[in-house]
Amino acid sequence: MAKIEPVKGVPSHVGIIMDGNGRWAKARGLPRLMGHRAGTKNLRRVIRAAADAGVKYITFYAFSTENWKRPAEEVNGLMDLLAEFIDDEVRDLHKENARLLHIGHLDGLTPLLKKKVEDAIELTKNNTRITVIIAFNYGGRDEIVTAVRRLIEAGIRPDEVSEERISNALFTAGIPDPDLIIRTSGEKRTSNFLIWQAAYAEWSFPEIYWPDFDEKALLTEFENYASRERRFGKISEQL
Ligand code: FPP
Repeated sequence: MAKIEPVKGVPSHVGIIMDGNGRWAKARGLPRLMGHRAGTKNLRRVIRAAADAGVKYITFYAFSTENWKRPAEEVNGLMDLLAEFIDDEVRDLHKENARLLHIGHLDGLTPLLKKKVEDAIELTKNNTRITVIIAFNYGGRDEIVTAVRRLIEAGIRPDEVSEERISNALFTAGIPDPDLIIRTSGEKRTSNFLIWQAAYAEWSFPEIYWPDFDEKALLTEFENYASRERRFGKISEQL
């Protein structure tokens, strides 16, 4: 596809729940992991299209704290795909001035995979074109529990607890809240993704399995987003 030009009114931060890999594979008579593999490949084109369009932050929900309950073969396969994604993509992302971040707990990962993620974050830490955030071993409730523990450990008194303090104790501290969250495949659930940060996000549920969600589908989402009126609790006349 031709290079995408910057898009007017593009969301600054887009969250993506990459749903439908299993159904994509099943429809083709393939094992589920092949769907996840195709989904991993798709990250590349969506990151590039988003960066070209002018998106500054993009967060992908790759592995939730609940995904540990899936069959061991699938869990191990998803771990391998994260390693492959880093091996295959991070050098190019770095060249393209993209910064990589992780949200969630790295502690559940093997030491080798943890190191790979940490090295990729370190390598790309000064890049400024787009920030790519991988939510891996991430859960929104777990994130809030972790934040509460951090506040208590820091000795914050009850009257000092504020929305700002909680935001700054989340994994996403310093990252603006998502403007648009896209869940592919037509399922309409939040599934524990950025539940604090999504308070005023616009949501979209395109009926496309994640491996098929291409540049054109992304641009359609941006067009729809640009036509929405975000009121943040106010009425139209106050905006
Ligand atoms: C949901 O589809 C998808 C996931 C649980 C995993 C998404 C992970 C990747 C695309 C690859 C790993 C990520 C990185 C960054 C390398 P599903 O399996 O629930 O699909 P289904 O609802 O059709 O079964």
